[in-house]
Amino acid sequence: MRITVLPGDGIGPEVTEQAVRVLQAIASIQGYRFEFEEHLIGGTAIRLSGSPLPRTTLDACLASDAVLLGAVGAPEYDQLPAHQRPEAGLLLLRRALGGYANLRPAVSYPAIAACSPIRTEIGSGADILIIRELLGGLYFGEPRGFSGSNESMSAVNTMRYSVEEVERIAKVAFEAARGRRNKVTSVDKANVLETSQLWRQTVTRVAQDYPDVTLEHLYVDACAMHLISNPRRFDVLLTENLFGDILSDEAAVITGSLGMLASATIGGDVGLYEPVHGSAPDIAGQGIANPFGAIASAAMMLRYSLELDQDAADIEQAIEYVLEAGYRTPDIAAGTGGYVANTAEIGELVSEAVTEVVDMRHAYHAV
Ligand code: IPM
Ligand code: MG
Repeated sequence: MRITVLPGDGIGPEVTEQAVRVLQAIASIQGYRFEFEEHLIGGTAIRLSGSPLPRTTLDACLASDAVLLGAVGAPEYDQLPAHQRPEAGLLLLRRALGGYANLRPAVSYPAIAACSPIRTEIGSGADILIIRELLGGLYFGEPRGFSGSNESMSAVNTMRYSVEEVERIAKVAFEAARGRRNKVTSVDKANVLETSQLWRQTVTRVAQDYPDVTLEHLYVDACAMHLISNPRRFDVLLTENLFGDILSDEAAVITGSLGMLASATIGGDVGLYEPVHGSAPDIAGQGIANPFGAIASAAMMLRYSLELDQDAADIEQAIEYVLEAGYRTPDIAAGTGGYVANTAEIGELVSEAVTEVVDMRHAYHAV
């Protein structure tokens, strides 16, 4: 199985290294062979090859079974126009791979519940799957750009959705809800935006094919509030691109740290797996970055691109064991006790725990 690894910028290389280590651990336990091939993306790619998404990177991604990405973004490019920034590399890659459904689970892990600023009696037990439309809306809508100059300058972006785009993402949400608690909350701003009115009508129509799934609609502003005040009311949260970008960072507060969140982008030719966090240049290179989100993204890769569901579940279980054993990166240490470990130690602990999880499962089945 060929996996393209795009470490990217900032803490990206540190966390992907640990995700790869855990994948190697599961591969050696199960006797698989993963072929990892590293390529450039983002600011690192601009610096070394002049483009945020070099052709060789794109070709390698398209030729592989899955893509594992670290993070993109570097402050030295902040002044550049959108298409020359590191982020442009990621957006071009998303579009080229064709994955329109971005799955971002936000769960409250009991072992670190106390490091969330949300009171434990409100947040504990929360388990939300955010399904973010990833190829439409303001991120890609045309026309876009600047016109005029100086004082008379203006800028435009376009939010556009077609029925087909909404239908396909809605189906992903309803299917996912069936494997969970059978509830979809669709997020929009239908009291103001036409795109949202189309969104709501279309989602309501798709829901008719899923009578076993409950559908509710929420305006995005109310949703932002409920996510914090009553996160347990949510199961699957279905949302357009920009709302999903914003709400998924907010949902990270339930877990306690953005560093815990994983994501999978599916529906296209090749799946793309990346932690939700950014490149965090302020802590890059110090060995203190949280690799759990990257490791959990690798687990999602096994589930969604390689059909290795059991192995994915084993990695997720191993993550919980390491947390329960008290190991923390600094971002999840506050108020939860335990022992602060560095990025590489966490990777090693999860790899060891995976072996134990698999052994225990085999022993259990043997009984
Ligand atoms: C995310 C990020 C990206 C996005 C950026 C880096 C382009 O914030 O994956 O949530 O806005 O989609
Ligand atoms: Mg974001």
